[in-house]
Amino acid sequence: MSWLLFFAIFSSLSSSILGICPKGTVASISDNTTCYLFQSQKQKFLAAEKLCTQHGGHLTSIHNAFESVFINEKAQKNFTDSSMNHFWVGLNDLVKSNNWVWTDGSAVDFVEWDYKQPEETFKCTASSLQTGLWHSANCDEGKPFICKIPKCLDAWKYFDETKSCYKVFKNMNWQNAENACVAEGAHLTSIHSQDENNFVAKLIPFNQDTFHCTDQNYAWIGLYTVDKQNTWQWIDNSTYNFSAWAVGEPYRHNENFCGVILDQPICGARLGSWGSGYCPADDVGFYVCKKMSAF
Ligand SMILES: *[C@@H]1O[C@H](CO)[C@@H](O)[C@H](O)[C@H]1NC(C)=O
Ligand SMILES: *[C@@H]1O[C@H](CO)[C@@H](O)[C@H](O)[C@H]1NC(C)=O
Ligand SMILES: *[C@@H]1O[C@H](CO)[C@@H](O)[C@H](O)[C@H]1NC(C)=O
Ligand SMILES: *[C@@H]1O[C@H](CO)[C@@H](O)[C@H](O)[C@H]1NC(C)=O
Repeated sequence: MSWLLFFAIFSSLSSSILGICPKGTVASISDNTTCYLFQSQKQKFLAAEKLCTQHGGHLTSIHNAFESVFINEKAQKNFTDSSMNHFWVGLNDLVKSNNWVWTDGSAVDFVEWDYKQPEETFKCTASSLQTGLWHSANCDEGKPFICKIPKCLDAWKYFDETKSCYKVFKNMNWQNAENACVAEGAHLTSIHSQDENNFVAKLIPFNQDTFHCTDQNYAWIGLYTVDKQNTWQWIDNSTYNFSAWAVGEPYRHNENFCGVILDQPICGARLGSWGSGYCPADDVGFYVCKKMSAF
């Protein structure tokens, strides 16, 4: 298959298969956790970067030829004013001369400098709308620009199947953990499939040095019961339609316990198996919050 055809197929499928992006942004072709925002309002480099951070992202980084071609193709459709020959991307050597870095902190693992570029007098990077090649440019020039915005902000991790963001925190009893999640616009996580369960389990930095099945190797999830473990519910009110109880769990204590997810080698259960825990216990290792992606 020719490279162009391959790209054309990807390009036409991208909006349908790459998931939801906020209105006015475009799904990334190479990374399904991010979206691009095309801004035709000309800005100086630092002002452009600031506007991107206000959207939770940064000026775009570019990490391979597919991403470069994809961005340029969209840019050509977007930046139609004849004065818009170039647009800002996040590469710059403002901090240290000749040390080119992306404003989003990602690795500089791909560059597409035009012939005899970059010129050392200029410290910011503009990409040519016509060729997709880069040159260093005066940071104070106004140019249209492209932001790259993660579907989950800060350190939350995106899971495509649920279009949700997850984050692990340390040590709190179940109710306080739920309250802390709510303060983040989230709830203790619900889990509805084996894939989601695996995803959640792998997020938790279980302590592999612990040789006993201690509370440090549990993480609270959003499971609770109000009828002494006859039926279980998720605190986010989603349907209880999947379970991953470890053998012998939930253990019937005749009490209203709460759900934990377990680490594996220590607790003798498979990674991600569930157990029932004493809700007021505040020495459980972790808890996991979940919220819908903002987009
Ligand atoms: C998104 O990326 C994840 C991790 O790389 C992958 O497992 C998943 O299949 C991708 N989803 C789509 C729709 O491309
Ligand atoms: C320009 O880009 C935005 C995304 O930032 C998109 O919503 C819009 O449809 C694009 N316009 C054109 C003409 O492609
Ligand atoms: C779940 O449902 C209960 C009872 O209807 C309600 O009080 C509670 O606010 C709901 N919680 C959420 C997270 O929607
Ligand atoms: C279980 O419930 C969740 C949330 O209510 C839903 O998204 C999911 O599709 C359901 N899964 C199954 C297997 O019924």
